Amino acid sequence: MSTLPWHEDVSPGRGGLPPRAWYARSDAVLLALDGAWRFRLSPTADTEDESFAAEGYDASAWEEIAVPGHWVLQGKGHGAPAYTNVVYPFPVDPPRVPTENPTGDHLRRFDLPEGWPEAGEAVLRFDGIESAARVWLNGEELGEFKGSRLPHEFAVGPLLKERGNVLAVRVHQWSSGSYLEDQDQWWLPGIFRDVTLLHRPEGAAGDFFTHVSYDHTDGTGTLRVECDVQGRVTVPELGIDIRTGESVTVPVEPWTAETPRLYDGELATGDERIPLRLGFRTVAVEDGVIKVNGRRILFRGVNRHEFHPERGRSLDLATMRRDVELMKLHNINAVRTSHYPPHPAFLDLCDEYGLWVIDECDLETHGFQDLGWRANPVDDARWTPALLDRAARMVERDKNHASVIVWSLGNECGTGAGLTAMAEWIRDRDPSRLVHYEGDLSCKDTDVYSRMYAPHAEVEQIGRREDPGPDPRRELPFILCEYGHAMGNGPGGLADYQRLFERYERCQGGFVWEWIDHGLVHPEHGYGYGGDFGEELHDGNFVCDGLLFPDRTPSPGMVEYKKVIEPVRIEAGTAEGTVRITNGHDFADLSGLAFAWTFAVEGETVGTGPLTVPGLAPGESTEIALPAPPVERTDREAHWTVRALLAHDMPWAASGHEIAWGQLAVSEPVPPTSAAGAPPVRHAGRITLGPGSFDARTGEPLAIGGIPLTGLLLDVWRAPTDNDNGAAWQPDERYGLLWRELGLHRMRHRIDAVETDAEALTVRTRVAPAAQDLGLVTTYRWTSDGTRLRLTVSVTPEGEWRLPLPRLGVRLGLPAALDRAAWFGGGPGEAYPDTRAAARTGRWEATVDELQTPYVRPQENGARIDTRWIELGHVSTGLRVEGDPLFWFTARRWTSEQLDAAEHHGDLTPGDTVWLTLDHAQQGIGSQSCGPGVLQEYRLDAAPATFSFTFTPTFTPLDVRGARGTA
Ligand code: GAL
Repeated sequence: MSTLPWHEDVSPGRGGLPPRAWYARSDAVLLALDGAWRFRLSPTADTEDESFAAEGYDASAWEEIAVPGHWVLQGKGHGAPAYTNVVYPFPVDPPRVPTENPTGDHLRRFDLPEGWPEAGEAVLRFDGIESAARVWLNGEELGEFKGSRLPHEFAVGPLLKERGNVLAVRVHQWSSGSYLEDQDQWWLPGIFRDVTLLHRPEGAAGDFFTHVSYDHTDGTGTLRVECDVQGRVTVPELGIDIRTGESVTVPVEPWTAETPRLYDGELATGDERIPLRLGFRTVAVEDGVIKVNGRRILFRGVNRHEFHPERGRSLDLATMRRDVELMKLHNINAVRTSHYPPHPAFLDLCDEYGLWVIDECDLETHGFQDLGWRANPVDDARWTPALLDRAARMVERDKNHASVIVWSLGNECGTGAGLTAMAEWIRDRDPSRLVHYEGDLSCKDTDVYSRMYAPHAEVEQIGRREDPGPDPRRELPFILCEYGHAMGNGPGGLADYQRLFERYERCQGGFVWEWIDHGLVHPEHGYGYGGDFGEELHDGNFVCDGLLFPDRTPSPGMVEYKKVIEPVRIEAGTAEGTVRITNGHDFADLSGLAFAWTFAVEGETVGTGPLTVPGLAPGESTEIALPAPPVERTDREAHWTVRALLAHDMPWAASGHEIAWGQLAVSEPVPPTSAAGAPPVRHAGRITLGPGSFDARTGEPLAIGGIPLTGLLLDVWRAPTDNDNGAAWQPDERYGLLWRELGLHRMRHRIDAVETDAEALTVRTRVAPAAQDLGLVTTYRWTSDGTRLRLTVSVTPEGEWRLPLPRLGVRLGLPAALDRAAWFGGGPGEAYPDTRAAARTGRWEATVDELQTPYVRPQENGARIDTRWIELGHVSTGLRVEGDPLFWFTARRWTSEQLDAAEHHGDLTPGDTVWLTLDHAQQGIGSQSCGPGVLQEYRLDAAPATFSFTFTPTFTPLDVRGARGTA
């Protein structure tokens, strides 16, 4: 091994300083070395030629690049990003890497700023370089390191000059470290986090560790600051003034993710003043349950990769803050920093805004799995120093954050003694936090039993502590470190998981996979995914599986998750006219919330008012009488909506922001009155029935009230979602693929009869795919009262239908000018049987374009649930459709087949038709793109069904102001 070049040997590096705590340096002397650097890219790691690092080297002909940044995202000729999920994009021969190893030489000249102190030391700090770097200052080699998302520092004091310093950094895309960094993400080389020169005053601390705990039995907090030099610790608000190493206990308000109380303090050593932000809290596993400050906590979490659609993993503070704000706005209370420590400033934000953090080490060796885990670095002692180095760099950097309550060894590394060594080191260094790792089912190194994508039934079994497996594990608390795979449309089944988390004390919640789609801005496709950048091996759009779209717009999955995890439950009370309010917080009472009611008739608000709710303690529940309804009893459908709103401004939202809501039905939906009586009339190849005109030969409707109509047929196809298509490794059947195999995307419609009698036009058909002997006997029965037209569809399956149907409804084409929708039903966003928690009954409006959900890979989307009626129209022409029973609708400028064929948004071009689907039923969504499929109760099995739609041409202008409405 010794003959290998440094970037290929297994060592973590040399020449650097030991790792230490990171802290915001508002009052420190520093020089940020970000901005334009000189840059030269070579196709190989030419380790011989180091001349560029020598003083006086003329790099004026080199181009410039922005630091922090990834070179593959900065202009042409810099290579390209590449995406793989599990596999290494190079031959697996650890620790060797390919000769083709893009290498970026970076040069930066700098002068010391005015007033840079004479006395003291100086440290050069790199917060993140992928994947290995060798560093020189003024021609002197400082050392080298691996560990991409970890900090690395060098002492540089004696080398510094007042003017004309030259910092040279050689970065290799591939190194032995790449074997430890096989996370499911883009491979993005470069100096992607800050580079800083820090002044270290005389007597400055080498490192410090704030030991901060809370005793819930007597309300006191204890503080002790461990430091390698003598110093004083002051916390003015608590009257604390102690020496380092000394311990003090005082009454305090505790820190929790719900009540992120921080105390400002200071650590003074020599000439250095370090700002402290102290959160008093204690984490422990007691009686098989994770407790903070003596109480069970429930993770309403997400897995967060650092991602920006233009800058990759190079995030600025504003983007980090936006992420935290968006989490708080959506009731999220926990983050797993999948799968590496984030930019350190992110954790400051978590302390400040209040989020539980599982801080995960920069470690994944997943690509060894398909190779039978042969040569897996975590099971090979030669790599253990590198693993321990990574553990130490994470723990030392992040140990002073109140928000971090769990250390995670890494992700998907199989099993091995290296992991045990990491866990032992971490426990020894910081016994105050829990240790997590998902990949070893024995749980021998961990404090929690953690799984990813376990199906509901198994979670329930685990919740009962009836799971098979090693006994000691059954005593551990349980979390889903990943669940609810948010790829494309979905995830489905979140509410069903939440019920289990709320029922079983052992099930302490989970972390949805994942926070944001990693779609990278692409010149042709809008957002590109795997394969769009010319990769030899890639995993397609598996990289787009977030609750946020790449531009950080919340997806319907995020809106659903917010509703599912809302910390206040609002439901109908047992007594009539009452509402039951339950405080689902772990720590906060309800005094921070204000409640309001609205009363709506057919979705139109007719009254609003405040509702007085006592400041219930966590876990408490009460029933409150609603006021007398503001209108007399009506024969129209009426609802109460009760909402819990922030009573005061918070750092992440203004007062009035909605936290939770519930709806109480006062009356049932009112079905449309019958539309019958007018007889069908045949003439010249046409049949006229009320406002409808039909082709007499086929029975196909051609127009309703003068609005042309095409292609009204039974429809069972939907453009398969990523969750329909499923993942190869999931045990459940992959319906998206099976539906296509069966031919549901090319159904044939045989007309068996077109009949008229005194009151109806009846069209008998059989709908079936070629090559199969199964089918759907389908009858369309049309009646009219002269002004309205009613279609009753009856479907009887024939043959053996083993698979569920994607959907069951009719589709029809209308002129493109009818591009605005108003409806009464579920909204404002999309919903499917198992993603419907966030749909509330109301009156909603949207343009057809606004009804589309822009999943990065186009697929079925945009269905609105529980529709009573919809009007699709424009200016003074429109068509109203009422359903019996309630129905789903989608409206698009393309067909399901076109949606299915599209790979990117650019592939979808609007035609001259708006396609409206009116569905009686939809198959659920599930989470099978990386998890369990659709639960039995959300399956749409082929079965006899009858449903009807009443069509009325309308002439009232639609007042459409966008996707808004009232509930
Ligand atoms: C998990 C893995 C994640 C991600 C996810 C699927 O197995 O830990 O990194 O790959 O599956 O998107």
